Amino acid sequence: MKLPHLGGLTAKQFFRDYWQKKPLLIRQAFPHFSGLLTPDELAGLACEEDAQSRLVIFKQGKWQLESGPFDETRFAKLPKKDWTLLVQEVNHFLPEAAALLQQFNFVPTARLDDLMVSFAPDGGGVGPHFDSYDVFLLQGMGKRLWRISDQQQQQLVEGAPLRILQHFESQQEWLLEAGDMLYLPPRYAHWGIAVGDCMTYSIGFRAPSVQELATQFLMHLQDTVALDGFYTDPDLLAQTHPAEISEQMVSKIDDVLKNVVWNKRDVSHFLGIYLTEPKAHVIFTPPRKISLEKFVARLQKEPIKLALQSLMLFEGDQVYINGLALQPKTDALIDLQKLADTRVLHPMERYTEHLAELLYDWYQAGFLQF
Ligand code: SIN
Ligand code: CO
Repeated sequence: MKLPHLGGLTAKQFFRDYWQKKPLLIRQAFPHFSGLLTPDELAGLACEEDAQSRLVIFKQGKWQLESGPFDETRFAKLPKKDWTLLVQEVNHFLPEAAALLQQFNFVPTARLDDLMVSFAPDGGGVGPHFDSYDVFLLQGMGKRLWRISDQQQQQLVEGAPLRILQHFESQQEWLLEAGDMLYLPPRYAHWGIAVGDCMTYSIGFRAPSVQELATQFLMHLQDTVALDGFYTDPDLLAQTHPAEISEQMVSKIDDVLKNVVWNKRDVSHFLGIYLTEPKAHVIFTPPRKISLEKFVARLQKEPIKLALQSLMLFEGDQVYINGLALQPKTDALIDLQKLADTRVLHPMERYTEHLAELLYDWYQAGFLQF
């Protein structure tokens, strides 16, 4: 199927020719897109306790970085030019932003991260840099000049509070207008400069480092591994140095540790939990209490959706939501997979007791909302 947001490419063609390989400019990927929120609304979000925001200011040849939440008086004191405000995870706050992310569901949800929105007056930007993840840079209000380079030189300015490339040689540049979109693979150098007031929507994809994956997996194993018995040494040998850890002991422990094994099911279980684990600052707001009966009556009339902060994935017969794993009964599986895929479950006439109770528990926890 040809995807209009990819300029008529199919997902298959995009993955084959561009994904993690080379940039793609799509003029009018989102025709008439002028944005989802105003600069003032973005500034309002940057003042929220649970939003992650940054201000980047370029002043007298130096980069400055301030982290939110900000006091609203901060914005009145900013210079006329050369700064930018960035807010992460806007999809946690705005249903329209979550809906925009859904337009990118030709990429697996397990890879999708968040929608970041930036505002900059003329000249503003975060400087020449590269990111370690894939990103679609969708232009909202105004214009931004994007300069990009596949340069191998990736040394960063030392001592700068953000990652700025020491040398940047632009090889291609485009002026993006509202609705235009630029895809960049990881580690591709880029520099976006606002031309007049401008807002950019960055659809970013998760790319945990291999080190992070390994560390997190080992932590997961720690909770799941179950080995019986104690260290034994009926064959203990007399040793000259009592303080020496003997070769015999090292070999025995080496054999014991070789029993720590895992299979693909352990890996998928780990991934489901790890990828849906809410970040530390994410808070779920439980709704006002209602009875199970009233909840089911509402379910039969209204669609139920994943809360904006909720993350849900599945693998085989396992379902993962916000860091919890469960194996639902077979008759509930298809509906739960539908909920994970589309973030919504449309009303049905009948709900099995099992499905109704599951949804009720998640609703009570603030994971779902009507
Ligand atoms: C921005 O929106 O200014 C930053 C996007 C980026 O370069 O990654
Ligand atoms: Co970037």
